[in-house]
Amino acid sequence: MKLLVTGASGFIGSALVADLLRSGHEVRGVVRSDASSVRVSELGATPVAGGLEDPASLVTAANRVDGVVHLAFRHGSPLAEAAASDREAIEAIGESLAGSERPLVITSGTLVLPAGPVGTEADRADPDAPAGARSEGERAALALAGRGVRSAVVRLAPSVHDRVPRGFVGALIDAARRSGFSDYIGSGEQRWPAVHRQDAARLFRRALESAPAGAVLHGVGESGVTLRAIAERIGAHLEVPASAVPAEDAEEHFGWIAGLVGTDAPATSERTQSLLDWKPTHPGLLKDLDTGDFFAAR
Ligand SMILES: NC(=O)c1ccc[n+]([C@@H]2O[C@H](COP(=O)([O-])OP(=O)(O)OC[C@H]3O[C@@H](n4cnc5c(N)ncnc54)[C@H](OP(=O)(O)O)[C@@H]3O)[C@@H](O)[C@H]2O)c1
Repeated sequence: MKLLVTGASGFIGSALVADLLRSGHEVRGVVRSDASSVRVSELGATPVAGGLEDPASLVTAANRVDGVVHLAFRHGSPLAEAAASDREAIEAIGESLAGSERPLVITSGTLVLPAGPVGTEADRADPDAPAGARSEGERAALALAGRGVRSAVVRLAPSVHDRVPRGFVGALIDAARRSGFSDYIGSGEQRWPAVHRQDAARLFRRALESAPAGAVLHGVGESGVTLRAIAERIGAHLEVPASAVPAEDAEEHFGWIAGLVGTDAPATSERTQSLLDWKPTHPGLLKDLDTGDFFAAR
């Protein structure tokens, strides 16, 4: 298939582009800078100029392909703004694909589900959940299934990992380096799903190739790694003590992830695995922490 990937220059997008090319697809990647254009070209895909702030550019690009994976997200912007921009992009791409039965796979996260119970694909996104703002993107994508788009939502585990510090785990490592303590909150039993980046990439490809219209999929390789286990592993590698901080000191210690660290948010991918015959095969988060380059000198 001739495919379009937004966010092709990013952490997950670059792995997806490589996976799609290996599987014989032709790939175009949406880019908004010369640096991203070079990155996408080096991966072996064709850069196409565009951006989330310019939905018309996404429509033009989507008009010329057989399917789209939408991974770009305005990290660094306030979540509500980034989520609104995400929804606009999904609606624009959807307009281009409407009536064609071409696939559109969009990205969400398991943190759109309420904390506590083990989240499944059958659970609806909740606007009040930790990443609930992204539920509007999910709704926009699922509505397209009734308009002749083979749309699917991939909810990723909050820890997508592959050898280097990123996102949630990267922020925990930064906090431990800053403070000299690898901390957790309370008992540290809060559970965080994780998935290896290469498994996530393969899931996006499987979804593109064969997910039924309106599918909600979970990119979850491990349903809940405890915060304490992660903190202890980081502490051992950095040779700093792992210890509990009171919830009221979380902001000072953890910085931008303070609001999420104390959340117990397990999720499964059982339905996804059987629906798409997708099995996570890459190392889990703790093994990756032990064998990757998370703690290389900086
Ligand atoms: N990594 C995780 O642990 C994780 C966990 C859960 C969900 N997710 C979700 O998975 C998706 C991909 O994440 P990632 O880790 O690969 O992110 P990333 O490495 O930060 O990459 C983000 C991508 O989006 C592009 N982008 C950002 N703002 C844009 C804009 N205004 N217009 C066009 N493109 C723009 C970036 O392009 P440039 O190269 O030009 O910056 C880059 O290609 C996101 O939706 C993210 O929220 C990630």
